[in-house]
Amino acid sequence: MALSRFIGLALVVGVGASLGLAACGTGDDGAKGEPGATGPAGPVGPAGPPGAQGTPGTVADGGGVLGGACTTPCHTFGGVVDQWRFSNHSHPQNTEIGVGTCGNCHGVDGLEQRVANKYTVAPDAGVPTDVSKGHINFTAASGVVTEIGYGGATTIGRIHCSTCHAFDSTNDPHVTGKYVAGQAPIRVPGGVGDTAILEKTEGPSPTTSTGQSVAYRAGNVCVFCHKSRKDVTFFIAASNPLSSTRWGPHYASQADIYSGKGGYHFASAAYSSSAHATIANACVACHMQPVAANGNVPDHTMKPSVALCKTCHTQYTGTTFDVQGGQALVRNALRELQSALNAAGMLTRSSTAPYAALSEEEIADNQFHLDYVRPGGAPGGGNVVANGPTAGALYNYLIVARSKDFGVHNPTYAKQLLWDSIRQIKGVDPTSLPSRPQ
Ligand code: HEC
Ligand code: HEC
Ligand code: HEC
Ligand code: HEC
Ligand code: HEC
Repeated sequence: MALSRFIGLALVVGVGASLGLAACGTGDDGAKGEPGATGPAGPVGPAGPPGAQGTPGTVADGGGVLGGACTTPCHTFGGVVDQWRFSNHSHPQNTEIGVGTCGNCHGVDGLEQRVANKYTVAPDAGVPTDVSKGHINFTAASGVVTEIGYGGATTIGRIHCSTCHAFDSTNDPHVTGKYVAGQAPIRVPGGVGDTAILEKTEGPSPTTSTGQSVAYRAGNVCVFCHKSRKDVTFFIAASNPLSSTRWGPHYASQADIYSGKGGYHFASAAYSSSAHATIANACVACHMQPVAANGNVPDHTMKPSVALCKTCHTQYTGTTFDVQGGQALVRNALRELQSALNAAGMLTRSSTAPYAALSEEEIADNQFHLDYVRPGGAPGGGNVVANGPTAGALYNYLIVARSKDFGVHNPTYAKQLLWDSIRQIKGVDPTSLPSRPQ
């Protein structure tokens, strides 16, 4: 019945179609094109992150290259470069590249390596599949599910323009001296039918990690990074000692929730998705709305847009994302599950042993994404050993919390996971949710 209150479910939020920038080139400027304001600008050499160059002041130094109107849409005040700088994507993450798999998502050239099918594996570790579609997990020769190593050599940890966009000497505005709409292609294929892979294998008892496909057009690029690193199908066993604060999904489980596929699914329960799953371009539609004042180039602050919500939620007049009180409901359900898991010795925020249970203040602060798994939380002081479904409930708590949206990405699925997980831990129906959504 709720459906009748909305219109425009098939709404197509076509970002690409609305790009109508006047090309900024004034022909003669192009010729002078080398002053190298941004250096080789290529795929982000060491000169890559020089945010400083984006300030209006430096643009003048560009001589004829990017002068005048040519600064649109990037180097204007509030333009794409400023937007990006305000987003967390501009944060230096050098320490997160490390060894192992981290550079695949935190390295400035992580996507470039992966779409080119470049990665590292230990000798005779097995054969990874679909790396160029974002798949990280694979089944090693020993039968154990493991993850590919990063195949590049960068020491720069940052999500920069060239991380997502494939710039070369033919389309880099610093080389060509102009910008025309569509000049900034995304590295990850985003055509109809192009897929990206989530680390969750489907099926009753699979033996190899194949992952699952999603097809979100421009949103495919987000899925490469914003998903759990672990294939939950293989991650949770019959018996699970909670011995590490790192147990569970990575901090970025948005695609797992949005897709309605990434959670731990309890036997005999059925799972479904909200109408949000039909939004064209998925993540990009909500987080990168076209900015009218900037030639309708998508917003690179990555802040979601309430205006877009109102294209469907036409009765909604608020200014927050708590449409129909939906976020408040999910917060309450998260807190009910958090309290139950905490009472069972499974959650902490301590960074070193002894790991304390959450305090009342921590439970009250709504910062669920700060919680992690508590080693040594069993009554006698040892590690809690969770059976499969109990570990699944804990995993579901962490992915809903770490999605950091309080259910907006997929209200139906988030509430189904919370309902089933609260029942698993408490043994009774939740008090925070009126019913299990269908
Ligand atoms: C599948 C892609 C992926 C891999 C692989 C990955 N991360 Fe992340 N990581 C992310 C994303 C995306 C975020 C941001 C999540 C958010 O803000 O919601 C993040 C956030 C973090 C954060 C917290 C926020 C910050 O940047 O300060 C840390 C710390 C971190 N990752 C460390 C690591 C380390 C260490 C490794 C390797 C062991 C690693 N990550 C591997 C995608 C990944
Ligand atoms: C996290 C990935 C990401 C990063 C980082 C990023 N972009 Fe984008 N950008 C996108 C996506 C997604 C679109 C929308 C593409 C679509 O809808 O087809 C886009 C669109 C654009 C467009 C308009 C489309 C076009 O082809 O002309 C421009 C211009 C652009 N980005 C420039 C930049 C610049 C400059 C930077 C660095 C300051 C940057 N982007 C950083 C993902 C990214
Ligand atoms: C190459 C990996 C990568 C890709 C691709 C990527 N992200 Fe991120 N994203 C990150 C990391 C890492 C962080 C956290 C950075 C930090 O906090 O240090 C992050 C942070 C964010 C945030 C946090 C909020 C903020 O204020 O910045 C949002 C929202 C976000 N990303 C949305 C997106 C969307 C939408 C896309 C697709 C267009 C996307 N990301 C593509 C890695 C990625
Ligand atoms: C394509 C249309 C569409 C867009 C765009 C959209 N929604 Fe929805 N949303 C729906 C529909 C339809 C429902 C109810 C049925 C369902 O969940 O499938 C819904 C349900 C919800 C719920 C659950 C409400 C409850 O009763 O618990 C929340 C919360 C929500 N939307 C928030 C948002 C926010 C915030 C945005 C913008 C960031 C947004 N929606 C954008 C169509 C849309
Ligand atoms: C229906 C619109 C919608 C869609 C589609 C959507 N998001 Fe979100 N997203 C939101 C809203 C709303 C929030 C919560 C913002 C808030 O409460 O401040 C959010 C939160 C986030 C955050 C945490 C931001 C922060 O400040 O820490 C990240 C990261 C993110 N989304 C990434 C994604 C990715 C990746 C996808 C695609 C798999 C996606 N989103 C799809 C609306 C959407």
